[in-house]
Amino acid sequence: MCQRRIASHNIPLFYTDLKREIMTTTSCLLGIDIGTSGTKTILIDPVGRVLARATAEYPLYTPQAQWSEQEPDDWWQAVCATVQSVLQQSEVPPQHIVGIGLSGQMHGSVFLDENNRVIRRALLWNDQRTAEECKWITSTVGAENVVNYISNPVLTGFTAGKIVWLRNHEPHHYARVKKVLLPKDYIRYKLTGEFATEVSDASGTALFDVKKRRWSEEMLHAIGVPLQWMPACYESPEISGRISEQAAALTGLHPGTPVAGGGGDQAAGAVGNGIVEPGVVSSTVGTSGVVFAYSAEPVVDPQLRLHTFCHAVPGAWHLMGVMLSAGGTLQWYRDTFCQMEKAIAPSLGKDPYELICAEAAQAPECCEGMILLPYLTGERTPYPNPNARGVLFGITRRTNRSHTARAVLEGVAYGLRDSFEILTEMKVPITQVRTSGGGGRSKIWRQILSDVTGHAHSVINVDEGPALGVALLAGVGTGLYATVAEACNAAIQITDTLLPCNLSHAAYTRQYGLYKTLYQHLKEDFDAVADI
Ligand code: XUL
Repeated sequence: MCQRRIASHNIPLFYTDLKREIMTTTSCLLGIDIGTSGTKTILIDPVGRVLARATAEYPLYTPQAQWSEQEPDDWWQAVCATVQSVLQQSEVPPQHIVGIGLSGQMHGSVFLDENNRVIRRALLWNDQRTAEECKWITSTVGAENVVNYISNPVLTGFTAGKIVWLRNHEPHHYARVKKVLLPKDYIRYKLTGEFATEVSDASGTALFDVKKRRWSEEMLHAIGVPLQWMPACYESPEISGRISEQAAALTGLHPGTPVAGGGGDQAAGAVGNGIVEPGVVSSTVGTSGVVFAYSAEPVVDPQLRLHTFCHAVPGAWHLMGVMLSAGGTLQWYRDTFCQMEKAIAPSLGKDPYELICAEAAQAPECCEGMILLPYLTGERTPYPNPNARGVLFGITRRTNRSHTARAVLEGVAYGLRDSFEILTEMKVPITQVRTSGGGGRSKIWRQILSDVTGHAHSVINVDEGPALGVALLAGVGTGLYATVAEACNAAIQITDTLLPCNLSHAAYTRQYGLYKTLYQHLKEDFDAVADI
């Protein structure tokens, strides 16, 4: 039996004690994260304790297969509601909020007209409609130039393809465009009246010179997109604007409160996980699955499988592998096959995911050869392939619900291992892995992640992700902390670590070989099925 746990310290938070302290705490920070399933807003004190949190959900529209859109006004309504809610819950006077940070789903496109009105729904990060446009951009600019200009390939999720798609398919909309904003930057505009972004989110537009940390005029020029459409770009902790009177009236915030640059959700989540030094890597299982490593230099994977983006830490970069459907695959599994778990979970006081993970724990490691390829919405890392599809391989008469549940957890872990393997190939140090999101919360899934990757997986005292990260960045921007690392040290400690079991790792490594081979065998079939 493997001995896996090496540390466990609970850090209890007593709300009533906190409430007493709030009276004396006059330096609170607000973090707002515009996620894909909802917006989350948190209020923290200077040592990162959460004084209040609120979430509000909104719909995701799929007008065609592989399309993914949201209504920017839904984000704004969610921001107003959640900010009002944390102010009410905490009773913190709004003038005690010294800084606000914004985070959000990356790569989305909000098109504004000359009156700064939204022209159409935003196209999101997981929208796959732009394959033709991405091919056109790459051939027009030249593949080698693309890498020289933006240090990344032009991928279907990224913003550049969305702008060109609008030009090709909705020219009446394109003719009205005066600004293109990322999701959180639309909220910044609503809060402050400023058109601004910051380097980490701008990196995911495919229009940004990641090495020089500024818009790539070469890239914009080559594809005919005016530089004036792009917002001013800041380093993530820098103050980009202040709460306007109008936004103050709608949210309850104090007019004039500074709003920091913030970060794309992955860079912001990395700050919220303390991924601010070499060797410390995160693996985050949200809708997407992300492996994120700090880098002091803008190093580029020669095969362009990982993204090289600016970090929210000024002067630093990161390498990132992104699976499009990690938690998203489990969500699909829950919604499609787990009506029973959904029905009984409330009476047991549990989340349906807990029941599904408990079922998964009943199946043997490697699921008696069953493997799930989690490419339900195409894939990005390591295969930037919008046509890839999900596959459940190896079903037998012995297969039952626990096998399928476990195959989902293992399939996602194999997908994350792909990114770990590339980091190792690139000689990026991995001394500590911190996991968060659904994969971090479930002990069985975290153990599978440790065993599959061969890296111990730790969790930290807070699971607030990007919202915490941008609240801390706002603390840096407003002088509460000297550096991002200082902010993270004030707020973040490791609370639990699960070590990998060598025997399990060896078994999973055999199965991982098969997982990789399966994709290669099916690659052409995925293209064929996309043509049907
Ligand atoms: C990162 C990415 C996703 C989205 C949504 O490149 O596409 O993580 O930001 O969370």
